[in-house]
Amino acid sequence: MLDVAVLISGRGSNLQALIDACAEEGFPARIVAVIANNPGAGGLDKAKVANIPTSVVNHRDFEDREAFENALDAELKKYKAKFICLAGFMRLLDARFVNRWKDRILNIHPSLLPSFKGLHTQERALESGVRFTGCTVHIVRPEMDDGPIILQAALAVDPEDDADSLSNKVLELEHLIYPESLKLIALGRVRISGNRAIIEEADYPKKGLISPDLIPK
Ligand code: GRF
Repeated sequence: MLDVAVLISGRGSNLQALIDACAEEGFPARIVAVIANNPGAGGLDKAKVANIPTSVVNHRDFEDREAFENALDAELKKYKAKFICLAGFMRLLDARFVNRWKDRILNIHPSLLPSFKGLHTQERALESGVRFTGCTVHIVRPEMDDGPIILQAALAVDPEDDADSLSNKVLELEHLIYPESLKLIALGRVRISGNRAIIEEADYPKKGLISPDLIPK
């Protein structure tokens, strides 16, 4: 059983997806703590409903990033967490922290990385005119939104979409691939090799998707 701490800053819908997955019989990970850097994070209530211990380590209470991250590290040790899932955690973690937890931090990002790192991904996807967008679960490296990719989910951009509708569609996919990625890791099916994650016994879609769809109806 992999003991996981989930770090959040906001509403926690991905946290909820992880909580639901962990509640399933036979799921190979459990959430030992939910830690927020923001006392107002809505996800804290979701954790409480699920009887998961919560902590707030407020970055505003610390002089610098190092002091904040040391406090975070101490909190993770207190709960004996062995793995970290970032789920809408809006603080950058520096190289010292990331290397301390090497290959043991997972993040979800609402774009097909390495495109559209950072914020406002769907606005930028729409502006750029890409035909596909999606989300990525990846192992965290010191660079922002960088690191070996575990799973990605893609969907075609509908020209009728605005940033909100697109975000909602992508969020549904996030809730599928985040628990699935954690499961693969907890089962020991993921091997990290340089910038790549190799997944044992995985099937890959054989056919490509074309958008707009060129096949006459
Ligand atoms: C998600 O879109 C996630 O990909 C990004 O931040 C958002 C968090 O949403 N990293 P929620 O708090 O999980 O609902």
